[in-house]
Amino acid sequence: METEKKLIVDGVRVDGRKWDELRDIKMKVGVLKNPVGSASIEWGKNKVIAGVYGPREVIPKFEEDSTKAILKCEYNMAPFSVEDRKRPGPDRRSVEISKVITEALSSVVLLEEFPNTQINVYIEILRADAGTRIAGITAASLALADAGVPMKDLVAGCTSGKVNGEIVLDLCKEEDNYGDCDLPVAIIPKNKEIVLLQMDGILTKEEFNKAFDLVVDGAMNVYEMQKKALYEKYKNKDV
Ligand code: CDP
Repeated sequence: METEKKLIVDGVRVDGRKWDELRDIKMKVGVLKNPVGSASIEWGKNKVIAGVYGPREVIPKFEEDSTKAILKCEYNMAPFSVEDRKRPGPDRRSVEISKVITEALSSVVLLEEFPNTQINVYIEILRADAGTRIAGITAASLALADAGVPMKDLVAGCTSGKVNGEIVLDLCKEEDNYGDCDLPVAIIPKNKEIVLLQMDGILTKEEFNKAFDLVVDGAMNVYEMQKKALYEKYKNKDV
């Protein structure tokens, strides 16, 4: 079903972008003093910060795994991150997002190297404007790298979708709310393995293929930005 609200006029989207254009993205690594690793991302109007602790002792102890570390990712939206104050604390949505991010990052972190430990990743959404799970996982993988946690590669993500019947990259909130479909995807860039793929809405097979190619290209651009952000922190240090 296509929406009535006109979100694309003469090829120009509500925020002035073209169909295949990303929002402005700024990333910074090592932004917090207390966690072992941290990163922040401003992705359009989204503001996200991630912090990593560990590998450290497992609490509660019965969760310990003698073959590998356990990875726990927690996605949390601040009460002031959305227009109507969000009730503080976990809800169904944040539990789901924490779960899919944990599963995605478990594919890259070399958990077997740290048996009987846990690694905690905290993702805080300070301002939300659609695409926060992807901004969150992108920040989290940078924070893990900053913490020196061994990984196969970073995880990079992006969103595409369908708005007014057209396939577009990186939906903003208005497009997410009133569009026809959104497709958040996260990949391991070196082999383009998919570690997260969700779809809210309906696409034909042709539309899906176009949206999928677009989102993978978007994620590869995000990957280049991630590598630059890491390089910025470490370029002047003896590592
Ligand atoms: O943020 P993401 O696109 O990953 O997830 P979503 O569930 O599709 O949410 C889309 C957007 O809706 C969020 O980024 C927020 O801007 C907004 N939202 C909100 O205003 N209040 C909530 N309780 C949840 C989401």
